[in-house]
Amino acid sequence: PVRVGILISGRGSNMMALVEQAQGYEVALVASDRPDAAGLAWARERGIATFALSPKGIGKAGYEAEIDAALRAAGVQVIALAGYMRLLSDAFVARWRERIVNIHPSLLPRYKGLDTHSRAIAAGDATAGCSVHVVTEELDGGAVLGQAEVSILPGDTADTLAARVLVAEHALYPRILAEYVSR
Ligand code: GAR
Repeated sequence: PVRVGILISGRGSNMMALVEQAQGYEVALVASDRPDAAGLAWARERGIATFALSPKGIGKAGYEAEIDAALRAAGVQVIALAGYMRLLSDAFVARWRERIVNIHPSLLPRYKGLDTHSRAIAAGDATAGCSVHVVTEELDGGAVLGQAEVSILPGDTADTLAARVLVAEHALYPRILAEYVSR
């Protein structure tokens, strides 16, 4: 199986889905820019190697060098971003070219960036959803590998919509990552 490293910043529910539905890949490391990320404890309890480092005080380049070293030490071949809320530098993306994927809570190319669900509701869209894409230097701009659509219902708030899209994320991401690592 291909060795995958997952980067998270918080809850880590997509990371959990990737671990639980792993096919053709194995999760070799879960790393976070936030040592208190809830998902880290979950991974540790399951015997998955973890690495946590705050960029505070060491600068972006120093921080990324440490993350890169941890990923390489764990033999990681492909990186999956899962609620990782930090922009990777161009240099980091170049070092892992075509080997970083991300899940984004919108139907790309619509709503790159933050607050995707409130923007979709405000626009009067009939559907929202999520996308798995290759990470390039352009924010949320790389090739889309797969998407799942979710209806926007009358009365939806950003929170109710986010909860339904999240269910779709947990089904989509493991399936697309399995396809990607066997490409
Ligand atoms: C997910 O909805 C993911 O799509 C989104 O953050 C959430 C993380 O939840 N990602 C982004 O907004 C990336 N810019 P999780 O930590 O429970 O997986």
